[in-house]
Amino acid sequence: MAIAQRPVYLDDKAPIEQRVEDALARMTLDEKIAVIHAQSKFSSPGVKRLGLPDFWTDDGPHGVRPDVLWDEWEQAGQTNDSCVAFPALTCLAASWNPVLAELYGRSLGEEARYRGKDMILGPGVNINRTPLNGRNFEYMGEDPLLASRIVVPYVKGLQSTGTAACVKHFCLNNDEEYRHQVNVIVSDRALREIYLPAFEAAVKEGHAWGIMGAYNSYKNQHNCHNDILLNQILKGEWKFDGVVVSDWGGAHDTEQAVKNGLDMEFGSWTDGLAWGTSNAYDSYYMALPYKRLIEQGQLSTRELDDKVRRVLRLFFRTTMSKNRAQGFLCSEAHYDAALRIAQDGIVLLQNKQNVLPIQLDHTRRILVVGENAIKMMTVGGGSSSLKAQHEILPLDGLKARLAGTGIEVDYARGYVGDTTGNYNGVTTGQSLADPRPADVLIAEAVAKAKDADYVIIFGGLNKSDYQDAEGHDRKHMDMPYGQDALVEALARVNKNVVFVNISGDAVAMPWRGKVAAIVQGWFIGSETGKALASVLVGDVNPSGKLPFTWPEKLNDVAAHALGTYPGTWREGNKTIDEEYKEGIYVGYRWADKQKRKPAFAFGHGLSYTTFAVSNLRIDNREVAADGTVTATVTVKNTGSRAGAEVIQLYVSDHNKTVDMPVKELRGFQKVTLQPGESRDVSITIGGRAFQYWDETNGGWKTSLGKRTMLVGTASDNLPLKATFTVR
Ligand code: BGC
Repeated sequence: MAIAQRPVYLDDKAPIEQRVEDALARMTLDEKIAVIHAQSKFSSPGVKRLGLPDFWTDDGPHGVRPDVLWDEWEQAGQTNDSCVAFPALTCLAASWNPVLAELYGRSLGEEARYRGKDMILGPGVNINRTPLNGRNFEYMGEDPLLASRIVVPYVKGLQSTGTAACVKHFCLNNDEEYRHQVNVIVSDRALREIYLPAFEAAVKEGHAWGIMGAYNSYKNQHNCHNDILLNQILKGEWKFDGVVVSDWGGAHDTEQAVKNGLDMEFGSWTDGLAWGTSNAYDSYYMALPYKRLIEQGQLSTRELDDKVRRVLRLFFRTTMSKNRAQGFLCSEAHYDAALRIAQDGIVLLQNKQNVLPIQLDHTRRILVVGENAIKMMTVGGGSSSLKAQHEILPLDGLKARLAGTGIEVDYARGYVGDTTGNYNGVTTGQSLADPRPADVLIAEAVAKAKDADYVIIFGGLNKSDYQDAEGHDRKHMDMPYGQDALVEALARVNKNVVFVNISGDAVAMPWRGKVAAIVQGWFIGSETGKALASVLVGDVNPSGKLPFTWPEKLNDVAAHALGTYPGTWREGNKTIDEEYKEGIYVGYRWADKQKRKPAFAFGHGLSYTTFAVSNLRIDNREVAADGTVTATVTVKNTGSRAGAEVIQLYVSDHNKTVDMPVKELRGFQKVTLQPGESRDVSITIGGRAFQYWDETNGGWKTSLGKRTMLVGTASDNLPLKATFTVR
């Protein structure tokens, strides 16, 4: 009897494109239609007849989201879906550490594998254009180069486990409040130079297998089916061969979805967060309505076959890959990764008279103040909410670290805080336990602060609506719950006040000059308390650097100074035009242009040791347009502790005929040095670093002429200079 030949699509030695074509040829119209849209809140069907498994997605981006019910947003109540919560992506970006970004992606991918998820809905790389954006904490800051250098290893690490990345939200989704109504108006140059590079790097260098369209529109077309963005740029110019996934409920029209580049439709008639129409899957834009148009001869199967090819390619990369391992959930290695990333990303913003690290030998009593010392932050914030197997809270982490030292750790709440504190059935604070009014809470904290050696306030924001949370923006930059009055009162009675700011974004700190130290503690996941304690007592020397400019006030931000946010309503309040009038002048590019000194500059972050950066050498003063220039500096740890510094290289382009930012980040490198150790650090730039987007001809163009290279350790601390010319 002849042995049946193994079909090509099942032969994992066969080239992937052959397998795709073979599987495609075997599929019926119904099967093709089925694989391009959801069958439940987070899954889409495979092809059972052909042995292609269902495809499971899950948020993202900070850990693997707990399972929800098949067709509801409610948690399914599984007992095996607690995860490691990794630090939020702002913290990862603040590490300026691509090695840890790879570790992050890989660890997350291993967790996803164990949980049976084939695609993580992340990472997010929308640019921080306004500090009000409720979702900046899920993104990688304001600078396209920094975000690019972090997203690529994250994607590679994640996908090395056979789990697809779904880089989101493509694109121009830079605020939340009207994300479904916003139509962004932006210059081509700003689009190309500021908003697209991180996506482009994720596609071209990271080889991302998925991209998620954004809710908002560009040129009056929804970004989940946007001809320019998806067909022309992503798939045309960048040759993206993966799938475009809609954001949950981001598809709005069958014909546009078919023709304008959407490949997999999810969450139609849901808001991605709380509500959704039941069992609507057959009515999805790319389900029966699409099939009918094909059957009636109004559409051919040309677009359908392209979508299915992409989906099949995704299957062969993930569910059909024999190489992927089973993965681990909550392994020691994953906790260790979460801890290291957190420690690497915490930013020491201010440290007067070296008040930090805490001098354990000379300390009797520490007063901890603030709701954020006792509040869970892995829960809430929208789709990135997690069910962490554990989350060490700041107060607990500090107490654990100081156990056995004889140092007394006292606590005062200090402000009322979040009185709702409930998200998806989880209570995130002990808010209701303390009903005393604000002045009583402040008085209690002040009384306790008087004889404390240190007062450590854990304050800032939380994951409630209108703070760091999806679906809304903050209404202002001020800290909630009257924290300013508390800080002022404590600073009056104690000179060693340390403010640990828990947030994903900048907040106004009118009392900044009155406290001794400020630490940016982000949302750092499972190991929060441990990581913060290790930095506060000096077990770990902080080395994080701000991935965005920390403005003094809202009006120092271009989007607000120019009155462009949230935009102008039209069509009976259906659409809001948001014109990015500042163009490329986002973040430090705007601060530089306006000569506006921020509270803390982009790239700023202090250390417990000191570094000297000297002797800038460049290998090439006359560089060809397609050449490179390498800068080398000597970095020395001149203090008495080991530490890491981020060498940052910016370039000023003196082109007089094209509008150029004062300077732009073009390269960086993090280096760890022992006390007294010195090392040469080299950074090479070229290619895009010499180009700008030419609006007139619609393409990248080399800017010829003189440049100044500026090297140092923060965007406002660049003492070394060298000039070169691009010819
Ligand atoms: C969010 C996405 C998320 C999706 C699924 C949407 O509301 O915008 O980022 O991946 O829901 O949860």
